Amino acid sequence: MVLSALLLGLVTAALGTPLAKPLAKPNVQPFRIDLSAGIPHLEALVKNTNLPSTPLYPGAGIEFGIQLDFLQDLKTQWVEGYNWTEQEAELNELAQYTTTIGNQTVHFVHEISQEKDAIPLLLLHGWPGSIQEFLPIIKPLTQPWTSPSGKTVSFNVVVPSLPGFLFSSPPPQNWTDVETAQLFNTLMTDVLGYSKYALHATDWGVDIGYHLYESFNASVRAAHFVFLPFLPPSPQDIADNNITLNDIEKVTLNRTVDWLTTGQGYFQEQEFKPNDIGLALYDNPVGQLAWIGSGIQLWSDPRAGTGPSVLTHTAILTGVSLYYLTNSFQSSVWQYARNTGVFRTIYAKPPTNAPMFFSLFEYNIGFWPQEYVAKVGNLVSYKEHDFGGHFAGLDNPPALIEDLREMGEYFASNE
Ligand SMILES: *[C@@H]1O[C@H](CO)[C@@H](O)[C@H](O)[C@H]1NC(C)=O
Ligand SMILES: *[C@@H]1O[C@H](CO)[C@@H](O)[C@H](O)[C@H]1NC(C)=O
Ligand SMILES: *[C@@H]1O[C@H](CO)[C@@H](O)[C@H](O)[C@H]1NC(C)=O
Ligand SMILES: *[C@@H]1O[C@H](CO)[C@@H](O)[C@H](O)[C@H]1NC(C)=O
Ligand SMILES: *[C@@H]1O[C@H](CO)[C@@H](O)[C@H](O)[C@H]1NC(C)=O
Ligand SMILES: *[C@@H]1O[C@H](CO)[C@@H](O)[C@H](O)[C@H]1NC(C)=O
Repeated sequence: MVLSALLLGLVTAALGTPLAKPLAKPNVQPFRIDLSAGIPHLEALVKNTNLPSTPLYPGAGIEFGIQLDFLQDLKTQWVEGYNWTEQEAELNELAQYTTTIGNQTVHFVHEISQEKDAIPLLLLHGWPGSIQEFLPIIKPLTQPWTSPSGKTVSFNVVVPSLPGFLFSSPPPQNWTDVETAQLFNTLMTDVLGYSKYALHATDWGVDIGYHLYESFNASVRAAHFVFLPFLPPSPQDIADNNITLNDIEKVTLNRTVDWLTTGQGYFQEQEFKPNDIGLALYDNPVGQLAWIGSGIQLWSDPRAGTGPSVLTHTAILTGVSLYYLTNSFQSSVWQYARNTGVFRTIYAKPPTNAPMFFSLFEYNIGFWPQEYVAKVGNLVSYKEHDFGGHFAGLDNPPALIEDLREMGEYFASNE
């Protein structure tokens, strides 16, 4: 009770004015990650998993899936050069909570700015992501930043774990991203008391974020995407529309073509046979590392792990450890099976006047030219970055922070 009251006080302070509507059920509990009990079993399994001593075909590149030397390096580091306690402590520097909404337990980060006009910002991750994907940007976003026009911009950052990921309970089989959007809007408005907010979304988060953008136009007052739930145009579509591409866009387009043609194996497996891969790797951390690590390597900037990217081997191991130790690999994979046909083919404007922001990261695996993005929202900014890939929060955090602050400035000037 005391802690709930404290939380309510913090929310009230952050909004600057008392909450218009008191929380009907202030059922928010503080939460800390404590998964150390699982570490001995994890380490034993990793140690006792054999990998071949040499690659079967040394010339086979990443286009054939994860490479043995990369996997072996990660496996060795997991046992010899990785300290879960330190990683867990870093994650626990984020203020975390759980709440119950309907039948779902929702785990979320809620980091509050000291500024009284801080903007509520919802960050939406995807697969194989988690709250960890936003670790480098959460605290900086709560800090005040002075815009070129002299506005002070800062955020109250909310990062929920998707249903079935980490400490958010697995949803029923018939649950889709439409329900997740509803769930997270309830979290932002009814539970946390934010009547208006901005959002940023990546990967599956963009399906949820786009449902929020189109269906909750009173509360979602700005949205920033780095990916979209629309089928990307083909090179032919782009040429037919007389859209000329710069060098950055040519790279992103090529990677998109690769992902759509030869990169959908994991997607089909997770969409149609989630129990096969989910159970095969359920108690197999090196297997999860190979399955997840392949995607991370392939979808990131080739310079990942070197500045400004903090997508290091340690970060990859922490991401996989979180899935393994929370038993959420199988339920995370089911995200695909519960949401078939996610890529819309009809580009149309949703009923909202909220501004939309888009950032392209060169090594991402989905390319939508500005002309296409503008068809599906009130696009006010289209940015391009020549560093970073699919996991921008880790692969180019300074650029993502800058782009979100630009959205913040817009929000502050218009709401
Ligand atoms: C892991 O890190 C913790 C916290 O810094 C430290 O107490 C512990 O000794 C480290 N463990 C190993 C095996 O280095
Ligand atoms: C919650 O779970 C109960 C029991 O399984 C079920 O009857 C009910 O329909 C669920 N409610 C929602 C909103 O899904
Ligand atoms: C899923 O099925 C349950 C049980 O039949 C039902 O109560 C619930 O409303 C359904 N939920 C959705 C999101 O369709
Ligand atoms: C593209 O340019 C060609 C040649 O100028 C023109 O015939 C065609 O109508 C243009 N297509 C579009 C979609 O603007
Ligand atoms: C894109 O792919 C084509 C065909 O594989 C290749 O010729 C071209 O050099 C690639 N362009 C870039 C910018 O990577
Ligand atoms: C919000 O959506 C409703 C329902 O689709 C629509 O009537 C209304 O005009 C929209 N508001 C804005 C500001 O676009």
